[in-house]
Amino acid sequence: MAIKLNCKYLSSFVSEADIAAVEGEVKDAYEKLYSKKATAAGNDFHGWLNLPENYDKEEFARIKAAAEKINKDSDVLVVIGIGGSYLGARAAIEFCKSKNYNVIAKDTPKIFFVGNSLSPTEISEVLAICKNCDFSVNVISKSGTTTEPAVAFRLFKALLVEKYGEKEAAGRIYATTDKVKGTLKEMADSEGYQTFVVPDDVGGRFSVLTAVGLLPIAVAGVDIDALMKGAFDSMKKCENADVLSNDCCKYAAIRNILLRKGKNVEMMVSYEPDYTMMNEWFKQLYGESEGKNNKGIFPSSAIYSTDLHSLGQYVQEGQRQLFETVVIFNEPKCDIVIDKDENNSDGLNFIAGKTMSYVNSKAFEGTILAHTDGDVPNIVLEVDKMDEYNLGYLIYFLEKACAVSGYMLGVNPFDQPGVESYKKNMFALLGKPGYEELADSLKKRIDG
Ligand code: PA5
Repeated sequence: MAIKLNCKYLSSFVSEADIAAVEGEVKDAYEKLYSKKATAAGNDFHGWLNLPENYDKEEFARIKAAAEKINKDSDVLVVIGIGGSYLGARAAIEFCKSKNYNVIAKDTPKIFFVGNSLSPTEISEVLAICKNCDFSVNVISKSGTTTEPAVAFRLFKALLVEKYGEKEAAGRIYATTDKVKGTLKEMADSEGYQTFVVPDDVGGRFSVLTAVGLLPIAVAGVDIDALMKGAFDSMKKCENADVLSNDCCKYAAIRNILLRKGKNVEMMVSYEPDYTMMNEWFKQLYGESEGKNNKGIFPSSAIYSTDLHSLGQYVQEGQRQLFETVVIFNEPKCDIVIDKDENNSDGLNFIAGKTMSYVNSKAFEGTILAHTDGDVPNIVLEVDKMDEYNLGYLIYFLEKACAVSGYMLGVNPFDQPGVESYKKNMFALLGKPGYEELADSLKKRIDG
């Protein structure tokens, strides 16, 4: 089994009776996921559920071919996108390869992610890198109108045209967007970019297993067949609403039980720094899916033991509103044996002969006992190892648990109305036509 939910450290916080009491709620939430009824809010965004089986095989082959072409003609791939249009790809590359991928990649292009902020510094650095090498661009936006990636795309497209001329530039641009509509789709059609589709019924944060994630992931040399196989097996394993036998539903249930007991902050924790961006992906997935109607668990994250030296004090003794979900890997990517030192001048001979992964596992055990003693419930997700198959499994598991958990919470897990507020204000303040009235009222507030 690729993932096991270990509830050993939860027993003093969540009882079997607590879980049994929400069995019906879990079933209702699960049914909403497969419901075509209008009463199941968000039911037009359930396409990701069957994606590991029903993905577009022709497009999948084109993704592989495009990745091969980019590998041949580019030293760098610039991936332009924000939120669900970037986090999954970056997380997958760092999970399967390394957070130092760009430093250690030998046979595949370096990959830079831009258009996920409005920082001129970040863009300038990557533009400077691209001036001196061959590069391609994968611009990703489901709506095709998001400001951050649109601004970045304008800049990188200009550099491509300057370097290669209009025709070759167009051949180096890969657009992942809506099948028919949006500014990006219109540009792609008129300028002749190769396009990939974000399916209508798959929302941004659930789109990592579509071309959104798969093209950059494939360019990094990650085996996307194995990734999809892991997701497929996860889909089969999680295909029932039984809170006792389906770990995915059980995790969703436990989160809601803990919330009702006052634990409204979840920290996703890993002892592997290569998991850092998976934490970011998780925070977007759960934060945007659940945080609405004044409800939701606040998703946060940490990498231990690193953050035990920054957040550890708070977790141990701060306000008691936290629970932790710890993702551990049974097999490390590699290992190091700590040698004996004859002088023992650093006093470390008590761990001589041990591996670093063993020491890491003792840090995990010591920490989880300390934190549960400190009244922090701990959920443990045991994953076999950090490879493509297990990642696909984990992605699907976390997506499905998020959807079930969101429905249990009583929200629509598939919309994000709150994200629009800042966008409207920003457009008004930038003078976008149509926002004049809002601009006046905002300026008064800022000036006053
Ligand atoms: O999950 C979501 O839908 C969002 O986070 C989007 O992915 C994000 O806002 C980017 O949108 P788009 O792909 O339309 O540019």
